[in-house]
Amino acid sequence: MTKEQAKKRIEKLTQEIDEHNYKYYVLDNPSISDFEFDKMLDELIRLEIEFPEFLSPQSPSQRVGGTVTKTFKTVYHKYPMLSLSNTYNEEELRDFDERVRKTVGDNFEYECELKYDGVSISLTYVDGILTQAVTRGDGEKGDDVTANVKTIRSIPLQLQGKGYPKEFEMRGEILMLKKGFEKINKDITAQMTEDGFNEEEIFQKILKNPRNAASGTLKMQDSKVVASRKLDCILYFMLGEKLPHQSHYENMLEAKKWGFKISPYMEKFKTLDEVMKYLNRWDKERHKLDYETDGVVIKINSYEQQKKLGFTAKSPRWAIAYKFKAASASTILESISYQVGRTGAITPVANLKPVFLAGTTVKRASLHNADIIEKLDLHESDTVFVEKGGEIIPKITAVDISKRKKGAKPVKYISKCPECGTELVRHEDEAVHYCPNENGCPPQIKGRMIHFTSRRAMDIDSLGEETIELLYEKKLISNIADIYELKNKKDEILSLDRMGEKSVENLLNGIEESKKIPFERVLYALGIPHIGETTAKKLAYFFRDISALMKADELQLLEVGDIGGIIAKSVIEYFNDKKNIEIIERLRKHKLNFALSKDALASRTEKLKGMTIVVSGSFEKFSRDGIKEAIEKNGGKATGSVSGSTSFIVAGEGMGPEKKKKAEKLGVKIISEEDFIFMIS
Ligand code: IVH
Repeated sequence: MTKEQAKKRIEKLTQEIDEHNYKYYVLDNPSISDFEFDKMLDELIRLEIEFPEFLSPQSPSQRVGGTVTKTFKTVYHKYPMLSLSNTYNEEELRDFDERVRKTVGDNFEYECELKYDGVSISLTYVDGILTQAVTRGDGEKGDDVTANVKTIRSIPLQLQGKGYPKEFEMRGEILMLKKGFEKINKDITAQMTEDGFNEEEIFQKILKNPRNAASGTLKMQDSKVVASRKLDCILYFMLGEKLPHQSHYENMLEAKKWGFKISPYMEKFKTLDEVMKYLNRWDKERHKLDYETDGVVIKINSYEQQKKLGFTAKSPRWAIAYKFKAASASTILESISYQVGRTGAITPVANLKPVFLAGTTVKRASLHNADIIEKLDLHESDTVFVEKGGEIIPKITAVDISKRKKGAKPVKYISKCPECGTELVRHEDEAVHYCPNENGCPPQIKGRMIHFTSRRAMDIDSLGEETIELLYEKKLISNIADIYELKNKKDEILSLDRMGEKSVENLLNGIEESKKIPFERVLYALGIPHIGETTAKKLAYFFRDISALMKADELQLLEVGDIGGIIAKSVIEYFNDKKNIEIIERLRKHKLNFALSKDALASRTEKLKGMTIVVSGSFEKFSRDGIKEAIEKNGGKATGSVSGSTSFIVAGEGMGPEKKKKAEKLGVKIISEEDFIFMIS
């Protein structure tokens, strides 16, 4: 392909991909399959690599991310980013209406739109190209998050059509879809549950609401991660000197033609009564939307009238936000259940009289721990307020004391395990109670076996939750080592319900087969508290066999990359328990893998032994995790920040300028991806 042909093809692909992005992400109406889309994008990326002189900053290939920003540049806003004054009721709205009428008379239009609960952003376009994206910050200056914003597919990098001003700003809200938010939390919960964290620890870690999630995502250093989080953006404000119309609503319609996603529920009204109808309708309807909204913004449509109304120090006088009350309902506390997890952690759950709230029926609310119950001063059969403010798990916010029954007793936290009756313990500095009877408490015993056989651990498909329950009830298994002795109890198993010749054979084959599972997964399957898949892998590769790991002291454990005090303590505690050692010895007799295989050992080298290596930017042959794994496999340690002890930096595309500066100052060598591959090959 000649240069000229490449240039033409790149231009054509860019235009087509932009158009399909618009159809998919703005209009929600795609006209080609994902496969076809990816094919075009792949072709574009390949051409841009071959002909880098034609790679433009607004190419759709830039949306996949890859830029790493260590510190975001502070940028002053050309026009300050003001906030809105809030109202919560009709009366305050009538006052606003009166003030407006006093200044501009009775001949004006209201424009109403939803108030999106996300992160505000200001986008600057010059000659139709997105040149800068800045967060609100303190209103006067914010952070330059252009690289991250470019990954948001509904934000045009290059405008369509004609008639846009030479330079102007669009302001709007960056949002995370409720669905995307729930998916991220689901993934975190699933992973942490598998890793043996309790509900309270998981609650602390999950994203609190879509707004926090969007704001955290926007400030991430690696734009590739931002791209994977799938943010969206709705624009609601145009600023500039030569705008096409002299009114807000009409300019928004124009913006839509240029490729922006604007508020789809804008409406114009003449009277406050119509505005009230809009508010009341959306207070109910909003729960059906894909995004969180927390009110309605009411604006005076004409710019001339806006100008007459002017500003206060903080907000315009031509607009007001009517805030919805957080969805709340009152209901009755029927009882409290206490759940026991695989690690013995107790989670109290409130069982409520079912009540309809923000689109769903709420029957349960997590109470987290004894402190929370005490703080609420919860009494039996109390009437409580439950709220769902963007969070997925409803919470009890308060008790309606006026409705408390005479003589109602305060809720008393249990002192004994609801499953086995053992006295509960509470470690110092921890809010959670534990049942210490790990070898006699059924949910803990079953939980450990269920974890052991799970797909990512020993992967014994034929020994699922139900079969474990059954075999445990019939006293055929009570720990993970017993599983491998089931083959001696074939007749007893055959006498059980639902256990035919075929299924028993299947079961025993599955168990036999699991003996091939490699050491790192066996280690994970043991269910040592706080040892997830990744940690298990790191420990396995570092210590190579279980004997070395058993002997390790805290200092040695802390030497392993990313392992901190809590994990080190947990490992030591686990191996200090005689019962665990006994089980491991029994498993060893059954020939489970307790050392790295020869292959795994052979693929490891000591080429980078003792070296601390920093990776920066994005690479062609490796993903970021991949290059870190390669470093560790070759005996090195991958870290994030450059310091005096850094051996060298592997720099990819878009290495952070701060890192570069620091490396130069400290005299740390920077090598390329090819150099690195050569080093380890
Ligand atoms: S108009 C001069 N319209 O609410 C202010 N703001 O509490 C112009 N917001 O900072 C803003 N949805 O981040 C406007 N439809 C909407 C909005 C909206 C959400 C945010 C915006 C603003 C904050 C004020």
